[in-house]
Amino acid sequence: MKATIVLGILSVGLVLAHASSSGNDEEKLLVEKVIQESTKKYDERMKVAFLNGAQSKRNHRELKKSTKYTQEIGRISSIYLDAFKELINKYKVDRTSALSHLRQAQPAECEQEELGCDSASKYRSFRGTCNNVANPYWGSVNMPNLRLIPPAYDNAIDDPRGGIISTLPPSREITLKIHRDSGNDSKYENVATHMVPQFGQFLDHDITLTPVDNLACCGAAQPEGCWPISVESTDPYYGSSPIRCLDFVRSTSVCFPQAGIEHREQMNIHTSYIDAGMVYGPTEQIAAVLRTYRKGRLAENAQYPGFLPYRKEVVPGDESDGVIIAGDVRANEMPGLTVMHSLFLREHNRIAASLANLTDWDDEKIYQETRRIIAAEIQQVTYTEFLPSILGQDAMNNYSLALPPVTNNNGYTKYDATVDATIISSFATAAYRFGHTLVNGLIQLMLDDQIVGSYNVSDNYLVSNQIIENEHADEGQGVTGYDLILNGLIRQQAQAFDTVIHKDMSDKLFKSATFIGTDLAARNVQRGRDHGTPSYNAFRRFCNIPALTTWDNKPDDIGQEAWERLRDVYADPEDIDLYTGGLSQITVEGGLSGPTLVCIQAIQFQRLMQGDRFFFTHSDQAGSFTPEQLAALRSRTLGDIICQNSALKSTAKNVFQITSTENPMESCTASSRELDISLFAKDIVSPSTGAASLPYAAAGLTLYIVTLTLRLFI
Ligand code: HEM
Repeated sequence: MKATIVLGILSVGLVLAHASSSGNDEEKLLVEKVIQESTKKYDERMKVAFLNGAQSKRNHRELKKSTKYTQEIGRISSIYLDAFKELINKYKVDRTSALSHLRQAQPAECEQEELGCDSASKYRSFRGTCNNVANPYWGSVNMPNLRLIPPAYDNAIDDPRGGIISTLPPSREITLKIHRDSGNDSKYENVATHMVPQFGQFLDHDITLTPVDNLACCGAAQPEGCWPISVESTDPYYGSSPIRCLDFVRSTSVCFPQAGIEHREQMNIHTSYIDAGMVYGPTEQIAAVLRTYRKGRLAENAQYPGFLPYRKEVVPGDESDGVIIAGDVRANEMPGLTVMHSLFLREHNRIAASLANLTDWDDEKIYQETRRIIAAEIQQVTYTEFLPSILGQDAMNNYSLALPPVTNNNGYTKYDATVDATIISSFATAAYRFGHTLVNGLIQLMLDDQIVGSYNVSDNYLVSNQIIENEHADEGQGVTGYDLILNGLIRQQAQAFDTVIHKDMSDKLFKSATFIGTDLAARNVQRGRDHGTPSYNAFRRFCNIPALTTWDNKPDDIGQEAWERLRDVYADPEDIDLYTGGLSQITVEGGLSGPTLVCIQAIQFQRLMQGDRFFFTHSDQAGSFTPEQLAALRSRTLGDIICQNSALKSTAKNVFQITSTENPMESCTASSRELDISLFAKDIVSPSTGAASLPYAAAGLTLYIVTLTLRLFI
């Protein structure tokens, strides 16, 4: 059922009712005329650009991060943003009045839809809707990002921070002077294994995917949304080629305007919750494609069982060759990531097989119960092993991120329905991109404790054959490329947290036989400006860290070398971009980020726990686990999951840290490394399950009016 009332519009309606009707009608007509003009302008520009090959001349195989829905919303939003600027600048219409009229004139795609929430269900919806029953769209797919502090768009509406013709240093120059690895800059000064960035990226692909249209921006005519990165002829990598421009498309904007959103705002097309969405998919349609509908199992590769299926095996009509598919479109971005997807595919099918043996449940029940366990395992690894390695113990305590110990049938946490877990803009755009600095360019393949081979990340973008067919594999012993990479990930040291991003990413991102590569560090800086991310200094203030005032006053939290690099590039400390400034800070004790990035990350992860009704340690919820189940899940480690789904014979107790006397190797054959599935094979409801304790549960299926609509096509 669809309602046409947006809550914000109710107040707009009242304002308009009181306005003089003739003046109002004139303004309404003007608004309609301006929308038509902006539509014409937009369509003309796209036509010219496409005639010049903007869509067809893709020069590298970038991932498709848009859907039909986001493309249409992006078009509408561009038109309405342009119309708004015309109305207030050219026609001098009052800002509030222009916003009201534009809201009223919005097309159906921007309308809201009422949702029916079954608050008694113990399973999450795929789209994350109804997690918060009173605010069913919180944290769901296609929601606008939240802001910790207001955006810093150059024109206060939509122009990137620093302006389209930027007054800030060019992003490629920032790479060259601050982020680029000059050849021997890689440092290894921490105890983190390469699993830290690898799990970090895998987790990121659960919680954020910011849509961007696939457009070529370096051609004769630029389509709307292009904001390419310029390259100088003196560039040490691109300079010897004819390349003087790197493609960059601005992130798709949500419908403009909305209640509370009067600027360009970006969206997340994944659910914000840690719900294993990268394994199962962010929509029912994608989830359906990935299932076998037999005994709760996910589809595996027909030719190579235990590996992700090829697209063409599961998507009717698909003709791609050797391209794998998973719940997230980036699954084949690099081999280590594909390994993580394969690991959890195996864990799902392993648990599903056990449940099928132990119960008489049907496919649906086995699938959903297994999905629930997998999401819990990913949350357990995140909060117990991963976050302490990146945030340090102080932040774990100060932000209540440490899960309580399981004692005497306890160990539960409480859901807080007032917390909105939707992804924060500065988290996705800068803070959680901290992981890019930790990634190695040369990936080691390891058999037991021996390095048996290696490969460059830049030779393996968007291909997954290393995993399946690897010259160093020993298939007679059941050892595949997957096992060698996985073993390397938990034994190879990660790079240090610093400003340096390996050249395989800062020059050669997505390099292929026909593509020279692009620059991830410059994209991060450019993306921050695109999203109107406030300056690094603004976030220092937000996080109660003294702001930078002059170049003569270096703070203790930034090292001398990083400070000099910043001073060399930026005219004023106030100009520093959040991403670059954040990476310039010295890490917090025991963590892998400086205090500003830790502050933003910790706030996000706190919300992702407190504001997720299905968080695995919460009590009194429809999806709560029993004390026995919780105890089993709380003792689970990523090392255990690896042991049960690979040919590895042993792993460190904590695979995020290199081995030591405190973190010894443990045999994979120890029974303590197994999850007791029989605990989950009982069809019982948790004694503390509290559907009935929720005030709205009595109503069973309850309808709520919400402020945004969800278009259901992908
Ligand atoms: C070889 C490893 C990696 C590659 C090739 C890679 C590549 C990329 C690319 C191409 C983007 C989009 C850039 C843009 O245009 O804005 C991106 C975004 C991002 N990356 Fe990475 N990344 C890697 C590892 C990591 C790691 C280790 C982390 C964190 C631990 C991470 C976190 C993020 C985040 C949070 C985003 C924003 C996602 C979004 O909002 O859509 N990445 N990465």
